[in-house]
Amino acid sequence: MCGIVGFTGARSAAPILLKGLSRLEYRGYDSAGIAVLDSGVIDVEKVSGRIARLCEKTKDGAAVPGVIGIGHTRWATHGAPTDLNAHPHLSNDGRFAIVHNGIIENYLSLREELIADGYVFQSETDTETVVHLLEMYYDGDVLTAVRKTAARLEGSYALGILCTDAPDTLWVVREKSPLILGLGVGENFFASDVTALVSHTKNVIYLEDGEIAAITPQRAIVYDCTGREIRKDVSRVSWDVEAAEKGGYEHFMLKEIMEQPAAVRAALAPRIHDGQIRLDDFELTTEELRGINKIIITACGSAYYAGCSGRYGIERLCRIPVEVELASELRYADPMVDEHTLVLVISQSGETADTIAALKECRSRGAKILGIVNVVGSTIAKLADHTLYTWAGPEIAVATTKGFTTQLAVLYLFAVYASEKLGYIDDGRRAALIHELMELPKRIQQAIDMNFYQLPGLAKRYSSQSLFFIGRNTDYAVALEGALKMKEISYLHAESYAAGELKHGTIALIDEGQPVIAVCCNEAVCDKTLSNIVEVKARGAKVLALAFRDNRKIVSQADDVLFIPRIETVFTAALAVVPLQLLAYYAAKEKGCDIDKPKNLAKSVTVE
Ligand code: F6R
Repeated sequence: MCGIVGFTGARSAAPILLKGLSRLEYRGYDSAGIAVLDSGVIDVEKVSGRIARLCEKTKDGAAVPGVIGIGHTRWATHGAPTDLNAHPHLSNDGRFAIVHNGIIENYLSLREELIADGYVFQSETDTETVVHLLEMYYDGDVLTAVRKTAARLEGSYALGILCTDAPDTLWVVREKSPLILGLGVGENFFASDVTALVSHTKNVIYLEDGEIAAITPQRAIVYDCTGREIRKDVSRVSWDVEAAEKGGYEHFMLKEIMEQPAAVRAALAPRIHDGQIRLDDFELTTEELRGINKIIITACGSAYYAGCSGRYGIERLCRIPVEVELASELRYADPMVDEHTLVLVISQSGETADTIAALKECRSRGAKILGIVNVVGSTIAKLADHTLYTWAGPEIAVATTKGFTTQLAVLYLFAVYASEKLGYIDDGRRAALIHELMELPKRIQQAIDMNFYQLPGLAKRYSSQSLFFIGRNTDYAVALEGALKMKEISYLHAESYAAGELKHGTIALIDEGQPVIAVCCNEAVCDKTLSNIVEVKARGAKVLALAFRDNRKIVSQADDVLFIPRIETVFTAALAVVPLQLLAYYAAKEKGCDIDKPKNLAKSVTVE
């Protein structure tokens, strides 16, 4: 849950590191630091708080000379976010500096051992054990010291290492945390994410677990864990630096909400040819599909809610039972999966620790794994038997928006594809569904346009310390995601409820003026939800409903209405969620919250 970056070349390192860190700040933002090697000495500058403070302290890097360095932005796990606990950490002899993303699980026993050997600790972090191990194992050969150190570590790590004896070389090693090398001309880089690299180079190498690299301005040499040099493919990043910038929007979140029509189009269009769906490397025969007797969808947070929503489409169209499980629960649940189970693992980042653990648990029991992932080359994409990328482009705001809707788009594609293979839909129905799918981007745009100007006012009117989001069936999945968006960026307590469940207890909480957001887009259950609206209104609630634009009944019952254009029922979530994203956005803006970096959160949740 941290970001690391490194540079070696002929340019001044500190400004490049600071710029890279600001692109990685979404990964963690409670403290930051850089270490730059100049004239045989490593200068470490670190602060608690945001990268802006580090820029201020170092005069945007001008106060830290040197052409090689490493940097870190932190989401604290071990030790409070103080200056001392911020990375980089130095060895006692000042020879090594390191930055770390991940968790060293055996750090306590290592710390005791190192203290007994006379090493002095400055911080409470797990990371500091690593730098002392490097000093302990160093006998003039950095590669050997890195290998011996890595062999002692349990947990996850992407480490960036600077050594005064190798003044133009950065060392990195990866285990279960992302690490990418960027190859420039006469200069090279490493980072936790390509967003920190694309302004310098689009040529990258994705490191695998256990790999070590030595990076000089001229080349990057990759070794396996035995120290044997290995050849790696160079990949080309397919998007431009503008995709990782705000492009005139006040916040990344707003930009990413507005990008949804294009992102959903990018997820759908390349997979539809001549009215047929093609799923990249996941082409299954009818026999193979018939052999699947259960689908499990597993994920965390919003990705889990995408699964809750996708489930309705898959069950309705494919008649295969679908269970949607929180990855953090599934991994400990002794799951009933076998070789006849298909597990859909959904993750924007592809690095979520619980999701990775659930994937491994299911695979060890013989299940086939299909990853639905945004970040190319991420751990889940690599571990899955097959991966369908969501092609949303970089998502920088911590709260996911286009990541979510593109996950839905891929789930819809899968549902229609499998339904046809299994013979549940004929050519006419398939053509109609594909037509509706291809209409999605346009209708998402309409859903934005139809509500955009009234949303700031509605957000003000419905902001309250406590909100309810209700809905049934596909609308319930939308309510879950709408409430999460509201909680995480506006810090307002929002509770989502299956509308029919209210009367079984929760309705006791409905009083005069209580805001209720009622999702009413699924026509099969709309009248039922309407009754629930009437019930809460009878108890004084103030109701903001979300419905298809020709739904007249809703206008007579709700206090306010957000409308979306009509679409095939199983695809409604991808439209309905959009006004709720904007509602949360404007509620947070009204409160003056830090929308792109909500408190206590980080984009990539690599802790369990
Ligand atoms: C909420 C949000 C999180 C993520 C969750 C899983 O806006 O972004 O709930 O959905 O942490 O992350 P990924 O999809 O990266 O596995």
